Amino acid sequence: MPNLGVNIDHVATLRQARRGHDPEPVIAASICEAAGADSIVIHLREDRRHIQDADLSNLRKTIKTRLNLEMSVAPAIVAIACKVKPDQATLVPEKRQELTTEGGLDVVKNFTKVKEAVKRLQNAGIEVSLFIDPDKKQIESAKKSGAGMIELHTGRYADAKNKAEVNKNFMELENAVRRALNLGLRVNAGHGLDYNNVSRVAKIRGVEELNIGYSIICRSVFVGLDRAIREMKVLI
Ligand code: PXP
Repeated sequence: MPNLGVNIDHVATLRQARRGHDPEPVIAASICEAAGADSIVIHLREDRRHIQDADLSNLRKTIKTRLNLEMSVAPAIVAIACKVKPDQATLVPEKRQELTTEGGLDVVKNFTKVKEAVKRLQNAGIEVSLFIDPDKKQIESAKKSGAGMIELHTGRYADAKNKAEVNKNFMELENAVRRALNLGLRVNAGHGLDYNNVSRVAKIRGVEELNIGYSIICRSVFVGLDRAIREMKVLI
């Protein structure tokens, strides 16, 4: 059974709607942890649209499980991470105009930049994961970059429009997990996972952690964060 990492970016999105203090991500994180979350995930975006620098340092001080910081390879962000020292850094692609992380990091194309960021983070004692599409070349480049871990982008599976497409993308995920494990990489997965599509991915052997945000925070609006997490844990 994989662990559950809960992404709480959208708690901060709601707070930023009024630029006030509520809802407070530190409180969200503690509720998630009490309900069974195995790690807390946040993305410090370059445009600071949700999580702010103060959230990062407050969460670093208060989280009792593990803090997984999603981040771009931009040197300024890498410097912040090296100073704050999350338990894990997950390198993601970042575009200002996107609504959410749209695809995996292109490790093949940005190999030198990625490798450099991996090295700086690891030298600071931070475990590094690369968020990549379930593609052979990306997995091989991730391995070459020195990262010990990847997070496979489950978006193509989650967004598939019909059964045949779902099955095709699921098989692609399964193959990618196998390939990565064979190379000695540790494997996580996430993006677009929800209460309907998560169980199948949770059954793939060798996946250590599923990182889920949007669906949990949406459900929490109606049933509360504690119950939203517990329901997801049952499905996983
Ligand atoms: N994993 C990574 C690397 C992400 O960028 C995101 C989105 O912030 C997620 C997981 C969670 O995706 P979702 O919010 O669709 O569950």
